[in-house]
Amino acid sequence: MSIAVKVLSIGTVLVTFLFHSTASAQERERRSPPRKLTAHQAEVAAANYQKYCALCHGKDREGHANDHAPSLRSKSLMESGIAHQVLRPMQYGRKGTAMGGYLDEVGGPMTLDETWDLTYWLFEQAGYDRLKFSTNPVLGDVKRGEQVYQQQCANCHGVKGEGVNAPALMNQSALAHNTDEFIRHAIVNGRQDTPMQAYKDKLSEEDIDNITAFLRSKSLGWKAEKPILRALPEPADYIVNKDGDDPNFDLKDGMYVLSSDLNDALVAKKRMVLLDTRVTSVWQTAHIEGSIPFPYYADLDETVRGIPKDVQIVAYCSCPRAAADYTINKLRDRGYTRTAVLWEGIFGWMHQGFPVQRGEIEGVND
Ligand code: HEC
Ligand code: HEC
Repeated sequence: MSIAVKVLSIGTVLVTFLFHSTASAQERERRSPPRKLTAHQAEVAAANYQKYCALCHGKDREGHANDHAPSLRSKSLMESGIAHQVLRPMQYGRKGTAMGGYLDEVGGPMTLDETWDLTYWLFEQAGYDRLKFSTNPVLGDVKRGEQVYQQQCANCHGVKGEGVNAPALMNQSALAHNTDEFIRHAIVNGRQDTPMQAYKDKLSEEDIDNITAFLRSKSLGWKAEKPILRALPEPADYIVNKDGDDPNFDLKDGMYVLSSDLNDALVAKKRMVLLDTRVTSVWQTAHIEGSIPFPYYADLDETVRGIPKDVQIVAYCSCPRAAADYTINKLRDRGYTRTAVLWEGIFGWMHQGFPVQRGEIEGVND
């Protein structure tokens, strides 16, 4: 208890210090993006968007195609502050949500330049002038903020800000990237064409400040972690329990296997191929042992080589099924009929206490 309190207060001091040392412009001023993409960069960024992001954020950036991924074109988001608010989630992801990191440094598929270009492409597509927010803290009554939060916000964002059908507002990586004014701007204006309404006429200015201060009080600090990247499995290692029997799953809706059934089959050393269909960086962070990185955006002609057709394939993701469904449907079209999707996804699997293999972290930058 006392340790937790201490960590919290150090975090708060650090955050406050950062805010004061970097706070420069108090006033909001309009500014345009510093980087104009060339036609070629824009073309690559548009293709990367469709390949990597459309599955959840939608073909037209409208959001909510899967797993309540936010809109990436709402005015209030795209006019909000600095490029890092889009860049950082894209690079490092939001731990514990379906949003994984796409930067090569953490095991993702995109280079640093590609992540920058995609960020500016999103700004250009949305076409709004960006507001400049100060990094000053928004001050308020944390207790009162918590009460209003629980009444007005918890049914979508979760009692602990874990996200139910809306973003996880108390997620540490989100709190690290979202400044107080960014959060307040979202509450005041809502997010256009999404379930997030504007609260400017529904709550007093003080209460909006109070909620913002309450959310900030949950921030413990966050650092970008640099994983030690594992070698990817070779085709010879794709099948787990090569000499085992077939698991003979009883599939729900002809498609889904429950975590408990998959775990039983692994314990009983049944023969299977496990596909982790998430962005590859999160396979590096934690995966079901024996699974191979098989991201939803991979070129199937490349990746299916080495996977025999007679073996039971089980795919999983964290969204909780979107990427796995997508991949398995493509495999079924290619004649892989012995295929299934893990019903609860890997977060459900972990919540039930089943084991995962975790990656190592190297130390810290940024
Ligand atoms: C009906 C469900 C619902 C309620 C109630 C709701 N929200 Fe939201 N909220 C959402 C959704 C959905 C999004 C994501 C919208 C998008 O961009 O697509 C969101 C986005 C946000 C964001 C932006 C997060 C980010 O990282 O960009 C903030 C901040 C926020 N909500 C705060 C609140 C607060 C504070 C309340 C209560 C006063 C509240 N919301 C009530 C559904 C809700
Ligand atoms: C598997 C689904 C999925 C994919 C694929 C995905 N995202 Fe996300 N993304 C999410 C979810 C879910 C969230 C919200 C997480 C939370 O905060 O609870 C999110 C949040 C974000 C945010 C923060 C938005 C905000 O309102 O604060 C950005 C920016 C973002 N994603 C960009 C991208 C980009 C760019 C790509 C492609 C390179 C991508 N995402 C791919 C699911 C996905």
